[in-house]
Amino acid sequence: MPALLDRRLIFVTGKGGVGKSTVATALGLVAARRGLRTIVAELASQSRVTRTFERESAPFEEVELAERLYAISIDPQSAMEEYLRVKTGAVGQALGSSRLFGALAMATPGMRELLSIGKAWELAQLERRTEGAGAYDLVIVDSPATGHGAGLLRTPRSFAEMARVGPIAHQAQAIATTIADPGFTAVVAVTTAEEMPVNETLWLAGELAEQQLSLETTIVNALYPPRFSAAEAEALTRARDRAGGAAGEAALETVLAQHGRSEAQREQLARLCEGLAQSAIELPFLFCDRIGPRELELLADALRSGLERHGLEPGVPAADRRDGG
Ligand SMILES: Nc1ncnc2c1ncn2[C@@H]1O[C@H](COP(=O)(O)OP(=O)(O)O)[C@@H](O)[C@H]1O
Ligand SMILES: [Mg+2]
Repeated sequence: MPALLDRRLIFVTGKGGVGKSTVATALGLVAARRGLRTIVAELASQSRVTRTFERESAPFEEVELAERLYAISIDPQSAMEEYLRVKTGAVGQALGSSRLFGALAMATPGMRELLSIGKAWELAQLERRTEGAGAYDLVIVDSPATGHGAGLLRTPRSFAEMARVGPIAHQAQAIATTIADPGFTAVVAVTTAEEMPVNETLWLAGELAEQQLSLETTIVNALYPPRFSAAEAEALTRARDRAGGAAGEAALETVLAQHGRSEAQREQLARLCEGLAQSAIELPFLFCDRIGPRELELLADALRSGLERHGLEPGVPAADRRDGG
């Protein structure tokens, strides 16, 4: 099995709000530092990724966030227009801007997903069909929340089976084949150590297995530091009980509450790893107003050592890869 960053397409999924976009970008930073020309493709078009770097971007524009690190926000409408323009020239261009055609295409179940994942696939091709566009070594897809994310991965195969012949079936089959190729594609889950996100991650692992895909690794984000041992916590509890309204009581209460939260997280983390029969990569909760470029660097550092510890790093240097095709 190749190292994680030796794939060309990585889907990052997880419950909304767990830090999916943040972790996808941190992973992009790890890859870019390693010399990989990397793009983080956001599918839900929330423009979170570019906002971390205080960058404004038009939809569908490939913007540079840092050295070798790019971001794009993929919306199905632009994906359709580009697909038609490139595939069918002037006729497609006319169709793409036709409101009726657009409305009909978008009303086809799964079409929005197919177009979005099709664009992510296009970004991962060494021969880009987008005119004048450079090739990327790695595409990290900031996928929609778990259920939709899993559905998204299934879409190309469904289309290929449904349509069987014709350009859409052909395109869908090519994408489905790419997704099923473990040398090319990996799926990574992001979660927090809380009950619902852990449940969703365990569900995702089962769902992927059903699709004959595997969950490459799970990243547990925003963990509180375990500050105290059990004995220390006990001593703190006794101190608080003795404080009896004295000045120190509130402070001790706060400290114990923090300890309790950290303990609860450790329990959920253990449940996750047991359910997955696999350990997870841990990222710290960062106490700050907002995650900016500096905080992202910290998360990238933690992520890189996590990948190393899990044997998912390092792989082939970027230069060798691009030459080898
Ligand atoms: N490790 C972390 N420590 C502290 N805050 C975090 C961490 N990871 C993410 N966040 C913050 O949590 C919020 C949700 O993160 P985001 O990446 O947008 O989640 P998602 O894409 O899963 O909805 C953001 O405000 C982000 O800055
Ligand atoms: Mg997000």
